[in-house]
Amino acid sequence: MKNIQTYIAKHKERFLQELFELLKMPSISADLAYHPQLLQTAEAVAKSLLNAGCENIQLLETKGNPVVYADKIINPELPTVLVYGHYDVQPADPLELWDTPPFEPTLKKTKLHPDGAIFARGACDDKGQMFMHIKAIEILIATEQLPCNVKFMIEGEEEVGSPSLAPFIEEHTELFENDVILISDTGMISNQQPSITTGLRGLSYVEVELTGPNRDLHSGFYGGAVANPINILSQMISKLHDENNHITIPGFYDHAYVLSKEERREMNKAPFVQKDYNKALNIEEEWGEKTYSTLERSTVRPSLDVNGIWGGYIGEGAKTVLPSKAYAKISMRLVSGQDPDEMTHLFTDYFTSLAPKSVTVKITPHHGGKAYRTPLEAIGYQAAYKAYSETFANQPIPQPSGGSIPIVSLFNEVFKSHTILMGFGLNSDAIHAPNEHYGLFNFYKGIETIPYFYKHFTEIHTNHEK
Ligand code: BES
Ligand code: MN
Ligand code: MN
Repeated sequence: MKNIQTYIAKHKERFLQELFELLKMPSISADLAYHPQLLQTAEAVAKSLLNAGCENIQLLETKGNPVVYADKIINPELPTVLVYGHYDVQPADPLELWDTPPFEPTLKKTKLHPDGAIFARGACDDKGQMFMHIKAIEILIATEQLPCNVKFMIEGEEEVGSPSLAPFIEEHTELFENDVILISDTGMISNQQPSITTGLRGLSYVEVELTGPNRDLHSGFYGGAVANPINILSQMISKLHDENNHITIPGFYDHAYVLSKEERREMNKAPFVQKDYNKALNIEEEWGEKTYSTLERSTVRPSLDVNGIWGGYIGEGAKTVLPSKAYAKISMRLVSGQDPDEMTHLFTDYFTSLAPKSVTVKITPHHGGKAYRTPLEAIGYQAAYKAYSETFANQPIPQPSGGSIPIVSLFNEVFKSHTILMGFGLNSDAIHAPNEHYGLFNFYKGIETIPYFYKHFTEIHTNHEK
């Protein structure tokens, strides 16, 4: 391909400034108060797609935040790439832990990003990565090298589990018809060792509420004689793992995909140093399911975590109280074969059975989604492989990720096409956390690599048809 690097070099500054404008918009989907900002961000995304040379730009209505649509159909005979991304972001709190304000993008150098990184909420997840695709299309159109058709679906509810997107794609199946789905919303091993994400875990998320006595009690009068729901909740949670850190919910692993010896050997070849991992997190020792490696535990094995737990008195000083209620938010990361609704069901039955008669349990399911795996034989995977090989010094390696993008498994069911996860973030980029950032190297390298995906996908696809 011609002039990709020259074009980037010439328009580098503008690309960055345009991204900064998007990053200044607090498009927090979890908080209804930010609805106007979400609309403003959707409009800004639509405008940048228009400026990039796309056509048929629309803000499509959903039950929630709009989906931005755009396309460039050059020839219906040619294959179509559907780019998915999200313009919403996670809440920014705790604000006091940010070194610079979350919605005032700032450039700073870090050890892993010696050329500088953009610090802002959404810099990596997903505005920075989504925006690479808009710039890649701009380049392909401007240099007259777009080899196939492209469609964009940029949504605004990914960070709250994409509740409106499932009915939306069922309604618009034809509009979004495609031959492959391309997403940059994951990570890679390092800037020296690129990787292509070949798996995502599924998710089942529940909130539990335990009620003991009908009101808060004086812990002197009642302590020792009435069940304390916080004590009980802690006991119940501790029973969810056994001494091998295996999850104890009956039936939980029954349909979970088990990797073959081959597959395990293959994935454990990825560069990984336990000592460095521990050091980066400041932990003495790792933790997890016996007989599995850290890479396996965090990607291809299911997990269960308490995300938050509260109740009773948490104010200044001491207040002697035996609380009436205790709460926890619990997530289960799932692997292929585990159905999210079924896992929620199994959890509910088991967790309820753990409760003594002295408390009542209420369980509210939140969002969920199935796991996804990209087959290495998929032509989209081969195209991505070739693309990285052209722009990086090292060949990419396949690596499953432990994170979730719940809509991806549904894409596969509805469109019958594969999803290719070309993520350029690093695990250390602090997504969802204070000081989220995205390397300038990663941003520009992504913009440079994506055009080659289009080229190779079109070539391989066309050869297959013959
Ligand atoms: N982009 C992330 C998912 C991700 C990040 C996958 C890095 C793999 C590597 C996405 O925005 C996200 O945060 N997903 C949530 C689930 C969602 C339902 C809130 C997650 O994985 O916790
Ligand atoms: Mn994301
Ligand atoms: Mn996210």
